[in-house]
Amino acid sequence: MASDPLRTPLCDQLGIDVPILLAGMGGIALSELTAAVCEAKGLGFIGGVGLSKDRLSREIERAKGLTKRPFGVDLFVPRPASEEEMQRAVGPLLAEMPEQLAETLDGFLNVREMVEMVIESGVSYFASALGNPGWMVEQAHDAGMTVLALVGTVRHAVASEAAGVDILIAQGYDAGGHTGRIGTFSLVPQIVDAVEVPVVAAGGIVDGRGVAAALALGAQGVWMGTRFVATREARAADAYKQRIVEIGDEDTTITRSYTGKTARMIKNRWTAEWEGRENEIKPFPLQILTTNVALKDKSPDDIDWMPMAAGQASGLVHDLPSAGEVLQTVADEAREVLARMGGAGAG
Ligand SMILES: Cc1cc2nc3c(=O)[nH]c(=O)nc-3n(C[C@H](O)[C@H](O)[C@H](O)COP(=O)(O)O)c2cc1C
Repeated sequence: MASDPLRTPLCDQLGIDVPILLAGMGGIALSELTAAVCEAKGLGFIGGVGLSKDRLSREIERAKGLTKRPFGVDLFVPRPASEEEMQRAVGPLLAEMPEQLAETLDGFLNVREMVEMVIESGVSYFASALGNPGWMVEQAHDAGMTVLALVGTVRHAVASEAAGVDILIAQGYDAGGHTGRIGTFSLVPQIVDAVEVPVVAAGGIVDGRGVAAALALGAQGVWMGTRFVATREARAADAYKQRIVEIGDEDTTITRSYTGKTARMIKNRWTAEWEGRENEIKPFPLQILTTNVALKDKSPDDIDWMPMAAGQASGLVHDLPSAGEVLQTVADEAREVLARMGGAGAG
């Protein structure tokens, strides 16, 4: 049998057939989507950001019931020292919040407890959404976990590798959600050149052309977010999924208005109302409180106001299939592109 041009060394390392990883998108990539990607022989990550510890624990258990294949969890892992500062800063505010709103901040405030729960749950992979996860790598390794980290600069990539991270996710400016300032095409090969560990490309990859391009840049796999929001299994409002299908290349913006950190979101009334009011935006994660309080009576379908993270490649998303179909289509397309170009991917 001819060898699969899409099969990179990372596939063997992760025990997957297709080097496509589901980005752990907080509150959207939950058990169903994660399991669907794993069942299609990619690798899924539950997005734990914004979930309480109990809720995340339940999602992990549900995913275990839906797939026997290994999966991962994605979390913010700021150093615990800054977590204490955060606790001090937001404690009084939390006391005044309705319980269900306070719960969404649980994970930001109790990082160490969250991480320990995930490690003890027996999950195989841990992805750090933000910040150097150096402080928890050893404990994760001792439990047999592989640690991945999202990075947006060469400097951050080198520091994360030095801290023991096993796989780096080079996430470019095109990406949906919290993102840095360097474009995917410039970032990925610079990180590939700077580190020894495998690199996965993220930001703007939604089809087989993107996967082939990522491999050409030296990545061994891709980490896709936006494409998977527009799937049946994603836990997102239908109106939001539909919006990703409708919008074009100019319809996202970088804003700090939802969380306090720069994030790429679909433009709507909320992002417009915060334009030019940078100085009123509170630092992360305090701005999340502002957002949650202001939007607490809005329906999840109210796309004028609700946060809708999405990347610049949304304009290439035209349908709402199942996650398994996405994996199959993107992989077939990537194989076709690689064959047409007469070469194999990395490895
Ligand atoms: C809706 C949405 C939510 C996201 N939430 C998270 C998150 O909780 N943690 C994280 O590490 N990255 C998050 N991201 C960023 C993704 O991990 C990923 O880097 C990005 O989606 C890749 O770019 P793409 O959207 O063009 O595929 C999110 C992205 C989107 C679109």
